[in-house]
Amino acid sequence: MIVLGIESSCDETGIALYDTGRGLLSHALYSQIALHAEYGGVVPELASRDHIRRIVPLLEEAFGKASLKPAEIDAVAYTQGPGLAGALLVGSSVAAGLGFALGKPLIGVHHLEGHLLSPLLAKQPPEFPFVALLVSGGHTQLMKVSGVGRYELLGETLDDAAGEAFDKSAKLLGLPYPGGPEISKLAEQGVPDVFQFPRPMLHSKDLNFSFSGLKTAVLTTVNRQTQPLSGGVRADIARGFVDAIVDVLVAKCAKALRQTRLRQLVVAGGVGANRQLRTALGKMASRRRCRVFYPEIEFCTDNGAMIAFAGAMRIKENPDCMRHTYGFTVRPRWSMEELAAA
Ligand code: KG4
Ligand code: ZN
Repeated sequence: MIVLGIESSCDETGIALYDTGRGLLSHALYSQIALHAEYGGVVPELASRDHIRRIVPLLEEAFGKASLKPAEIDAVAYTQGPGLAGALLVGSSVAAGLGFALGKPLIGVHHLEGHLLSPLLAKQPPEFPFVALLVSGGHTQLMKVSGVGRYELLGETLDDAAGEAFDKSAKLLGLPYPGGPEISKLAEQGVPDVFQFPRPMLHSKDLNFSFSGLKTAVLTTVNRQTQPLSGGVRADIARGFVDAIVDVLVAKCAKALRQTRLRQLVVAGGVGANRQLRTALGKMASRRRCRVFYPEIEFCTDNGAMIAFAGAMRIKENPDCMRHTYGFTVRPRWSMEELAAA
């Protein structure tokens, strides 16, 4: 069975073709980062318009790379939510249009389920059950994943998402959007412990996170320095910030592994591309005799492959989840808990 996947929830337009027998056939991606950089964040209206511009050429590219004709697919999976309403509408309407024209069924996919299952696309995938750390620009959650659609929320952020903390702190240091990769690059040149930042909720008994205090601590530290900041001071602040956030993420993952008695940790979402986080998680896991799994680096941030794959897994689990009606709605605030219950 061949599933076409369409992702357009935020600032990446992603298209992919996944075959349940042969694996990923092709994928095509366009990132709008450069478009939004001058505004310091994603501008929703610009995002929607750019998805409209990119989506058809990307579809042609993905079908071309896979040497497939649209009529050869079996279903269309698209990101139904959560995300920016206008952006989601682009992918959803193209999916519905294609489904209607080709007479193929549709399946609306939850964006976070796409991230959550994306490590299963890797060459050495984990097996169910596993603990998953979902760390993206909008979400920070720890989940126990027992199978497709069988997700138990173990803990989540009470305020900012980890990616948001990366991006906002980077902005305070004058780094361009998106700040996550930039601040971690800068941190590599910084000296540890010159600036010590709080590790919010590090010792709380639960598996929740809180990052807004950390961002405020970066703000007060920046304001206390003589301006403009020298390169060395910026790098040291970056280092203090990255060390703090990584410590908290790693400690909570260790706690989740201990509580669930599981030995596999899956890390998904954009922040999962962070090098410092990967190194620290690797050390923690080898101490605990656990294994850490990541999606291929190109599938850490938003992409169509994870949507095609999650759609295919859903269909395999329950073929009735596909629909042949072509009206569509988007779900900008769709929560994972609603999904697990569905
Ligand atoms: O999963 P994603 O592409 O989009 C959402 O669904 O949110 O994640 C984007 C987030 C941004 O906040 C970005 O700064 C962060 O992931 N990110 C990183 C790195 N690469 C992307 N954060 C830290 N280090 C990185 N290397
Ligand atoms: Zn995402």
